[in-house]
Amino acid sequence: MTVPEPNTSEHAWSEEPTPVCPDDLSEGTWGLLREEARRAMTKAYVPYSSYPVGAAGLVDDGRIVGGCNIENASFGVTLCAECSLVSDLFMSGGGRLVAFDCVDGDGNTLVPCGRCRQLLFEHGGDDLILNMPGGRSPMSVVLPEAFGPDHLSQARDAHSAKH
Ligand code: THU
Repeated sequence: MTVPEPNTSEHAWSEEPTPVCPDDLSEGTWGLLREEARRAMTKAYVPYSSYPVGAAGLVDDGRIVGGCNIENASFGVTLCAECSLVSDLFMSGGGRLVAFDCVDGDGNTLVPCGRCRQLLFEHGGDDLILNMPGGRSPMSVVLPEAFGPDHLSQARDAHSAKH
């Protein structure tokens, strides 16, 4: 079997230069996130809804990761833009998300759906700042009293203390 050569003509998301300081959530940084979210949106595969979505996240090491929605003939299998963003996060080195932006097909601010709030909480926690239509908010406001990894580890600790 012949293994095909990788296509190196276009940079992967993870190879994009990202001169961003993760502590600097200035308008300039939010502008870069918006640019990436809009760029990601143009890659969406949306033959069923015709509703493209793009997402971008700033990682705690200064990387910017992105994602678009990728639909499926079996509708429920559709990947939201946030899902492909999390995939990009892991494929480009992991880390924690510190800031997040999401756009619709017109490039305007879009709220992440409920499921994706949970998905983002896993990788950014309560302190992740989200650009919402009403302004920027921490995840603790966008998904209050979230269920997360701490609940599982607390239950495990309580169980092992008993046994
Ligand atoms: N969608 C996202 O990609 N992210 C969200 O947070 C909201 C919804 C996508 C899924 C589907 O491809 C399209 O938007 C219409 O629901």
